[in-house]
Amino acid sequence: MKISDELASAIASVTEVAAVAAFDWVGKQDKNAADKAAVEAMRNRLNEIDFHGKIVIGEGEIDDAPMLYIGEQVGKKSGSIGLDIAVDPIDGTRMVACNEKNAIAVLAAAPTGTLLQAPDMYMEKLVVGAAAKGAVHLANPLEKNLEFLSSALNKPISNLSIAVLDKPRHQHIIKTIRSFGANVITIPDGDVLASLLTILPEHPIDMMYGTGGAPEGIISAAIARALGGDMQARLISRDKAKGDSEENKQLAAQEILRCQQMGLEIGEVLSLDQMVSTSDVIFAATAITPTILMDGVSIDAYSRISNTILVNGSDRSLKLINNRYFN
Ligand code: FBP
Repeated sequence: MKISDELASAIASVTEVAAVAAFDWVGKQDKNAADKAAVEAMRNRLNEIDFHGKIVIGEGEIDDAPMLYIGEQVGKKSGSIGLDIAVDPIDGTRMVACNEKNAIAVLAAAPTGTLLQAPDMYMEKLVVGAAAKGAVHLANPLEKNLEFLSSALNKPISNLSIAVLDKPRHQHIIKTIRSFGANVITIPDGDVLASLLTILPEHPIDMMYGTGGAPEGIISAAIARALGGDMQARLISRDKAKGDSEENKQLAAQEILRCQQMGLEIGEVLSLDQMVSTSDVIFAATAITPTILMDGVSIDAYSRISNTILVNGSDRSLKLINNRYFN
């Protein structure tokens, strides 16, 4: 089933309204309020669109409502189109709160049954563009992947640039990459944008590696699937990602249970096809604050302007949508 252009545009309007709602909270040091505003705007807009939708991965479980929770049914529930939806109403809530660049509202959508349903937990991710498809594997030691990447791209390791989230858990990865002579591009937050920049050939990131959120992971897999890049991932329990405090160990036990219920195994390598089993997938991202690819939301006395990227896997297209709405 091909997602129509009309439905794809409607999906793009979902990240647009989320970004506009979050924009009110830029620099206000309140990431929860920003997130809540984006979630509500996203849900309201989703429920105006003619389709049967299901959130397969989002911001948590039903108990954590008002988040867009895993299993939540969205859409007008009319018409014959069924879609799986992966959401991150704000990728970069801290960046919105602190008025930093690169915060985006993101979503991926594909026909029912084609996006992996998984808990909102951590995920280790390895992302490359089309030129390195098949060359690297998450099960390989990092230094082997650097060698294979260097051969696939026909560049010396010293010319490779690897994006890594700048988190305490990644300091050894950053050190290892540097010790082999490759360049590390550290990103404070926001690994969906880093995945997108890795997959777009004109940007100087050759690989994105490290552990971040699973929703962001499935959304990144949608970009890779749509544009011909590659990705593997594995679910990581909270204690492994954030340290084995009592609280993290308890959360990890819940995650293990939830994965069992969903038929998933923590630590098992997931291929791109397991995460997104169709190339008929849509990815939409609207910039809240300015990004390298597009300006953030701007609002003046007369109008508001937003910039959205809409990727459509069915024809491997990327549209930049600049919308201005007058009051
Ligand atoms: P949120 O804004 O949704 O919290 O995500 C920001 C982010 O940096 C993601 O891009 C990344 O996948 C995840 O957080 C990493 O998690 P943590 O900040 O807990 O290490």
